[in-house]
Amino acid sequence: MKETILQTKALCKSYTTDGEQNHVLKNINLEIYKSDFTVIMGSSGSGKSTLLYNLSGMDTPTSGEVYCGTRRIDNLKENQLAKLRRTEIGFVFQQMHLVSNLSIFENITMPGYLMNKFPAREIERKALALMESMGIKELKYRLPSQVSGGQQQRAAVARAMINEPVLLFADEPTGALNSKMGREILKLLTDLNRNGQSILMVTHDIKAAVRADRIIYLHDGQLTGEIQLEKYMPDTENDRERQVLAWLTSKGW
Ligand SMILES: Nc1ncnc2c1ncn2[C@@H]1O[C@H](COP(=O)(O)OP(=O)(O)OP(=O)(O)O)[C@@H](O)[C@H]1O
Ligand SMILES: [Mg+2]
Repeated sequence: MKETILQTKALCKSYTTDGEQNHVLKNINLEIYKSDFTVIMGSSGSGKSTLLYNLSGMDTPTSGEVYCGTRRIDNLKENQLAKLRRTEIGFVFQQMHLVSNLSIFENITMPGYLMNKFPAREIERKALALMESMGIKELKYRLPSQVSGGQQQRAAVARAMINEPVLLFADEPTGALNSKMGREILKLLTDLNRNGQSILMVTHDIKAAVRADRIIYLHDGQLTGEIQLEKYMPDTENDRERQVLAWLTSKGW
């Protein structure tokens, strides 16, 4: 039996713009399992980012419930949500959002200091270990503007990992990268998942989606299907791409 680390019950999110209601997420019932690499796909505007924000405590639903483990999180106060984001959740965006006047090392360690759970020496040791495993240790003192896009994104992943999140969220983490840098980030996420990290990623890219254990399809704010895959192996990539593409086509992708 897989352990559920995140669950929604009848999650709805609406926005009111110019007096008109826009129902972006409609009755989402979803479970995310520990140690899974889960991917969300769906056309532009289907509500993927909105779903990630509502699952990660960056936004709150209009109605319905969200549970992180057994703890209900959709009704938390802003300071409790901020704590949840710092302690339980890591988030990687398409644009890396590194702090431009802090070094790569300072960017990675900062959420560790803010969380104030581990001693500074432990945070610095962890940051260096993450940087080493991601091949960016030599860039410790550089500013984000002095490293490549792929290196910035690796630093953003390291920053998201520093507090050992229960779940790592990624919203199109390869979207702003060329294909070589994109592949490096995908390999990094796959390696993290092999070491037990649970990941929930939104992507438009089949090459990214084939890394998943499970793909969920979102259409116009509703979950309309999912597919379970074998654990990713590089030598099965072409077959997986065909399998995923056929499934996506059947979903109207
Ligand atoms: N803050 C907001 N206020 C009003 N409408 C919003 C807001 N955020 C998102 N929306 C609307 O919600 C819908 C879903 O947006 P969302 O960003 O979740 O889509 P997406 O699936 O992530 O798309 P993309 O693949 O282009 O990133 C869109 O119609 C969008 O215009
Ligand atoms: Mg989006």
